[in-house]
Amino acid sequence: MESLRNKIVLVTGASSGIGRATALRLARHGAQLALSARNLDALEEVRREIELAGGAAIVVPADVTDSEQVRQAVESTVARFGKLDILLASAGLSMRAYFEGSSLESLERVMRVNFFGTLYATHFALPHVKKTKGSLVALSSLTGKRGIPSYGIYGASKFAIQGLYEALALELKRDGVHVGVVSPAFVDTPLRANVLNKDGKPWDVPPPPPFRIWPVEKCVDRIIRLIVKRKRQTLLPWFAGPLLVIDEMLGRVIGDRILRRRFPPGEGQGDKEIK
Ligand SMILES: NC(=O)c1ccc[n+]([C@@H]2O[C@H](COP(=O)([O-])OP(=O)(O)OC[C@H]3O[C@@H](n4cnc5c(N)ncnc54)[C@H](OP(=O)(O)O)[C@@H]3O)[C@@H](O)[C@H]2O)c1
Repeated sequence: MESLRNKIVLVTGASSGIGRATALRLARHGAQLALSARNLDALEEVRREIELAGGAAIVVPADVTDSEQVRQAVESTVARFGKLDILLASAGLSMRAYFEGSSLESLERVMRVNFFGTLYATHFALPHVKKTKGSLVALSSLTGKRGIPSYGIYGASKFAIQGLYEALALELKRDGVHVGVVSPAFVDTPLRANVLNKDGKPWDVPPPPPFRIWPVEKCVDRIIRLIVKRKRQTLLPWFAGPLLVIDEMLGRVIGDRILRRRFPPGEGQGDKEIK
């Protein structure tokens, strides 16, 4: 894809799942990658895979909850490649538990990783992306579009990303910066294996998602299209958009009923699989 050739892309959350798969795809399209996350071995593996396929990548490890580490990751990217065209803020973690009974520590952690992690990366990438008239792209979720039981704090972190990025899209329009948000349903990645319970610990066996799980490559397709077409938002699946509109038109009555049934309180309070 010619428009991605030699673009410099910083990906947070590049060690796993959506970030990893998108980094590999971008490299195949000729982009040069800066790969960020905490797990150095996993990042090196992605870098090797890109280089073996003839691409270029560097590793810029960072914990996104530490603003100084994120600043260094951005600066190392620019020092190595001379510019930054695209930020893909994919680092995140999930929590599945009803709000009542959830520890404050775990609620704050989700916000720190998902929202502040995205905010720090966006803050430090912005001056560079402005110079290249590039793209700021963040991973939200369908839980950032519609309140869902068990995903109160996770959804709040994703609504916050939506709010920040919607404002940014307007603020940066005159600078020619593209700002896009990706909002997928359940995607087949290791995210679910690490989903936190009410105590902020990974579930022994996470409750099964009550809706379809989408292949990660479908999500990558959406992200690539969003970047290339400089779209404001993309949903996975596409029909989630019309469904949200219908839900709203029906006063959310049916949607609420379905969601309360699919995400009952019991499953959010323990760590046993719900049959
Ligand atoms: N999978 C889904 O169903 C789904 C649906 C909607 C939205 N999303 C969003 O998509 C994004 C990617 O999720 P995924 O499904 O690809 O999950 P994943 O496979 O678990 O990957 C999460 C990534 O975030 C990184 N990360 C987590 N905590 C971090 C921290 N403190 N500092 C730096 N990096 C950190 C992880 O790297 P390290 O552990 O190496 O740091 C990993 O690379 C997330 O924002 C998620 O909320 C996912």
